[in-house]
Amino acid sequence: MNKAPVSPAATFVIFGALGDLTRRLLFPALVNLAEAGLLAPETELLGISHHDCDDDGLRRALDDFLKERPSWENIRSHVHYRKGDFRDSKTFTSLAGELKGNAVFYLATGPGFFGPIVDALGDAGLLDESRGFRRVVIEKPFGTDLTTAQALNRQVLARAKEDQIYRIDHFLGKETVQNIMVARFGNTLLESVWNNRYIDHVQITAAEAVTIGSRGKFYDATGALRDMVPNHLFQLLAMIGMEPPVSFDAAAIRTEKAKVISAICPIDPHEAIRGRYGTGAVAGEPVSAYLTELDVDPLSRTETFVAMKVHVETWRWTGVPFYLRTGKALAARDTEIVIQFRDVPLSLFRETVVDRLPPNRLVIQIQPDEAISLEFVVKQPGPAVNTAPVSMDFSYADHFELQHQTGYETLLYDVLTGDQTLFQRADQIEAGWRAVQPLLEMWQQGSPEEYPAGSAGPESADALMHRAHRRWHRLG
Ligand code: BG6
Repeated sequence: MNKAPVSPAATFVIFGALGDLTRRLLFPALVNLAEAGLLAPETELLGISHHDCDDDGLRRALDDFLKERPSWENIRSHVHYRKGDFRDSKTFTSLAGELKGNAVFYLATGPGFFGPIVDALGDAGLLDESRGFRRVVIEKPFGTDLTTAQALNRQVLARAKEDQIYRIDHFLGKETVQNIMVARFGNTLLESVWNNRYIDHVQITAAEAVTIGSRGKFYDATGALRDMVPNHLFQLLAMIGMEPPVSFDAAAIRTEKAKVISAICPIDPHEAIRGRYGTGAVAGEPVSAYLTELDVDPLSRTETFVAMKVHVETWRWTGVPFYLRTGKALAARDTEIVIQFRDVPLSLFRETVVDRLPPNRLVIQIQPDEAISLEFVVKQPGPAVNTAPVSMDFSYADHFELQHQTGYETLLYDVLTGDQTLFQRADQIEAGWRAVQPLLEMWQQGSPEEYPAGSAGPESADALMHRAHRRWHRLG
């Protein structure tokens, strides 16, 4: 088996060290890497934020999440804290005096700080790689539309080279998502039917049962479209739609992904719908309407659900619609990709099949369980030729020991080892925004259609499918 090497020693600097992301995901992921023997023991972890705190304060803040972990005691002594204002150049000049050798700068901050921090790192000489690598990890949202994303790309690329910038999309840290490439390009069986001759359409769903909770401020300014589509859902689409790369290295893979994202046609507002949850119940628990949530403007137009038909104009995909949907407060948590194959050319079982044969489907289940199933029909036992739908199921948990992971492990390891495969390049980000731009413009007017919390979304999402005599795969 291929054993991954230990990462090179580096200082891992986190801007926004006292935030939720740092505590819940970044540190636990670093601890998981250490326990898997993948993190160099000399790795230093330096948190920076504007709050009053010190080394011990940060360590104690992390104890709650990590104290049960065997390696935490060792790592704990490598954790440090500096108080610093991200808009003050002194924060960066003193950091420059302190940092020697390799460093990663992780921007776990509000998006308004991404550009200014990269500028300040550049001004302080912290992005100069003459004495070690210097890499910047940028969280989402990367811009809020095409113009702002282009401006942010220009700003960061004026200070750092593309190979120093790691634009993170945490969906790409999920095992089943990474498996898509292996399933496609490691199996003749799948790849030979992976085109518009055999595939009728593709469905990509990221359904969440949770509401926006305490994230009203962020969410009301963002909405489901910006939050999920040009980034997470298009990344899944790219994994499904990309051409085989010429090799498995980062440049080749990123180029193929960029090509498919740039082939997404600007989305026609008539082929997209938006929804907003009203009152209802999720898993038996009452849920109040979006408009009454904390920090949400009662006159808000923000959508909590979107569904759309997406056309990808390439040789392989012309004529195969990709249906995308995502939303909050839905009936179940369910992230999945459904590849629906065309009907057989001639139904030989007309006499015995009431409607029509159910189509073959390949379902790639990403969350909550990681699985792949292939749905097909067989003959029921007995003298008459009656068909029955069945499914062949592969579940990750049945075959592999799955350690509890946050989903950030591979991504952080890749930053430390310099592998950009799973990170978005500037052109991918811009192509994603370009495709959704018509919706961003159109949806400045009107308001979303209400759906009851705990349902499968607004009725017009079903209508979008029914118009084409199709239906969504059931949630959950
Ligand atoms: C984040 C979005 O990027 O992804 C959230 O901002 C969303 O709104 C989350 O809930 C979904 O991620 P996951 O890994 O829980 O499916």
